[in-house]
Amino acid sequence: MRRIKRIAIMTGGGDCQGLNAVIRAAVKTGINEHELEILGVNDCYRGLVENDMKWFKFDDASNILTLGGTILGSSNKVNPFEYRVKKSDGSIIHKDVSRKCIKNLREYCVRDAIIIGGDGTMDSAVKFSKMGLNVIGVPKTIDNDLFGTERTFGFDTAVSIVTEAIDRIHSTAASHHRTMIIETMGRDAGWLALHSGVAGGADVILIPEIPYDLDKICQVIKNRSRKGKVTIIAVSEAAKEKGGKRVIHRLVEDSHEKVRLGGIGEKLARDIEERIDISARATKLGHVQRGGTPSASDRVFCTQLGYYAIQLFMKGKRNRLVVLKNGKISDIALSKTKGRTKRVRIDDITIKAARGTGVSFGD
Ligand code: F6P
Repeated sequence: MRRIKRIAIMTGGGDCQGLNAVIRAAVKTGINEHELEILGVNDCYRGLVENDMKWFKFDDASNILTLGGTILGSSNKVNPFEYRVKKSDGSIIHKDVSRKCIKNLREYCVRDAIIIGGDGTMDSAVKFSKMGLNVIGVPKTIDNDLFGTERTFGFDTAVSIVTEAIDRIHSTAASHHRTMIIETMGRDAGWLALHSGVAGGADVILIPEIPYDLDKICQVIKNRSRKGKVTIIAVSEAAKEKGGKRVIHRLVEDSHEKVRLGGIGEKLARDIEERIDISARATKLGHVQRGGTPSASDRVFCTQLGYYAIQLFMKGKRNRLVVLKNGKISDIALSKTKGRTKRVRIDDITIKAARGTGVSFGD
């Protein structure tokens, strides 16, 4: 078995709380227990392409456990397999610069890398693994939608942030006898709206897995209003009406994601006011959900993930993804997740429990 002495580490895709906690655990474990040298790659694949990397000192990983964001920076625009190059005439071409990335790492005698990221980052990680780079992936996203793991870090913190927002919206809803709508992130899956909606006591929860019927929602609002009650709606950014489409904020060319979602909350508020005589307001939480310090639970989880990633290298494992399976930290083949999203099942216990307490899913 090849003795590993040097490892690169990078964070890609949209940030989330806990990235620094994973970096800290991996760097400290690597240095303390295995005398590894750890190479930090700035802005993930941008740093690989442009050779922007630097060796970690032990102290670089100190005092970052509670810090939001990522000390390594992130970039979700750079795809080394389709790298955007601006020609002298101003036109844009796409080039495969992946060999250059491998060559840059080899200059530091690095053949192993911890890549922390979401689905877009992992797609490229799988391609790099086929070119000889040994990758241990650590999945992240507040959306909790990555296939193969029961939970992604960042999710717990984001649920707390949205829950606090819902808690706060209750009093202003009551003062004005209004319907209040909180729009959450979540991309293609409704985990965040579902869990924060349940935690915050929302009356209606709308997720992409269950297309909604506007008439049903209006009926809930009217019934509650007759009893003197207001209605709180938690809506996921990708939720859509039966037979309708997701609300797209804008199209984005140079990103793994081809569309930026957003605006379903405002649309819903308009639709409700047009249909019934009750005023409705929408709040879009946006990137607040991804910012700030990780929750205690995410800090512990991230420490376990970073530690485990180092153990995989030392055991000689190749191309694995660190996951939570049956409540335990475990690992699966890196390529297993490719192109697959973990969506909420409509028979999920949280959906059933919410329905049991009278929550409407607009269906
Ligand atoms: O995937 C995480 C996520 O926060 C999604 O919920 C959201 O749609 C997207 O990222 C927004 O990303 P950006 O950073 O490009 O605005």
